[in-house]
Amino acid sequence: MQLKSLSLKNFRLFESLNITIPNKVLLVTGNNAQGKTSLLEAIYYLATFSSFHASMDRQLIRFDTLALNPAVAHIKADFETNHATRHLEIRLIVQQDRSGTPRYTKEILLDTAKKKGTEALGKFNAVLFLPEMTTIIDGSPEERRRYINMMVAQANTIYINTLGQYNKAVQQRNALLKILQEKKNSATSQLDIWDEKMAKLGARLIHERIRVIDELSIEAQFIHHELSHTADSFRIAYVPSFDPAGPQQVDNNHFFNALQNDLHVARGHYPLNDIEKRFLATLQSHRKSDIRKGISSIGPHRDEIRFFTNETDLGIYGSRGQIRTALISLKFAEAQWLKARTGQYPVMLLDEVLAELDQQRRNDLVAFLQKGDQVFLTTTDLNLFDPASLQGSHIWRIHGGILTEG
Ligand SMILES: Nc1ncnc2c1ncn2[C@@H]1O[C@H](COP(=O)(O)OP(=O)(O)OP(=O)(O)O)[C@@H](O)[C@H]1O
Ligand SMILES: [Mg+2]
Repeated sequence: MQLKSLSLKNFRLFESLNITIPNKVLLVTGNNAQGKTSLLEAIYYLATFSSFHASMDRQLIRFDTLALNPAVAHIKADFETNHATRHLEIRLIVQQDRSGTPRYTKEILLDTAKKKGTEALGKFNAVLFLPEMTTIIDGSPEERRRYINMMVAQANTIYINTLGQYNKAVQQRNALLKILQEKKNSATSQLDIWDEKMAKLGARLIHERIRVIDELSIEAQFIHHELSHTADSFRIAYVPSFDPAGPQQVDNNHFFNALQNDLHVARGHYPLNDIEKRFLATLQSHRKSDIRKGISSIGPHRDEIRFFTNETDLGIYGSRGQIRTALISLKFAEAQWLKARTGQYPVMLLDEVLAELDQQRRNDLVAFLQKGDQVFLTTTDLNLFDPASLQGSHIWRIHGGILTEG
């Protein structure tokens, strides 16, 4: 996958940017607050139609433009896949109605035809590394679920549709649970339809997550080994809220050891219909306690994913360096995984990835980058790169949202 050209208009600090993009490694260098991360954010937006940074899309529109009505930001790109050259355009629009209330809309055009986000997902694929993404490892379970969902969405659009329908079914079941909580002694059979929906859709999510996390873990192990130059092991464990392998026994006296051992559970052999049947039975057996709590307590919306180095849970015990190396391994594993699933390497977007790494790891990482198709790297300090490793790379300087070559 290769980005051939990019133009931005009124996106973040970019008033107007038009660039043609060479293949291979591109190094964007500049001082703080000049637009390095914003450039990667714009490219990543083409893959996910959401920003990892901004809590609201309207924050992406250039401040100065917001006084206009409508205020519009554009991201336009031509990219090349194995099969074709395609054009993707995103328009972020804020328009004030007669009462002055701002309304936000987003338009996506693929090869000039308007598409819904779910239809255009997976056409342009990218992997983004931001230093603050270590929260995937040591932040909340919700962040890990979101991460896995966005990753799978780029390769499997059925998954993202199933996820949307599953989340709706959970919301509807929860609404009914609250009604049943208030109306004591009502027939719980009203829950049948939602239990069945949740089991059917949820089983597909669990079935896919078992595979994805196993595949990702295998890729990440290899990469971690190459990057860390140690015998340290690395592993990603799926801890499903409804576990087809049955509830795991955690011995509190030996919590640390028990946690590791119990997570070594093989689940790849459970057929989809078996997971569905048993998830349904579990939902039914939890009805009473779910009504009491007013919430669906079991299912993929409560899943966990844990990361281990040498059988130590990094989310709890990881050092800064260990977590950072694990995150880099995870991101490269994601790229390999996308390549295996879609037949194409995604575009790699790596923000300040060399900071905090020792010289050996930096060199290994730069060497590793040559394996991909197209890589964007940002840095405030070109000296972090060994000059020999820069041969064949393109260097761009960025200042106040303006890019210059060389
Ligand atoms: N909507 C917006 N309109 C105008 N400017 C914005 C907007 N959003 C962010 N900015 C500004 O863009 C500038 C560049 O931010 P960016 O994060 O891309 O910098 P950077 O080069 O990655 O810096 P650093 O090296 O500190 O990470 C910041 O000063 C930020 O305040
Ligand atoms: Mg930055």
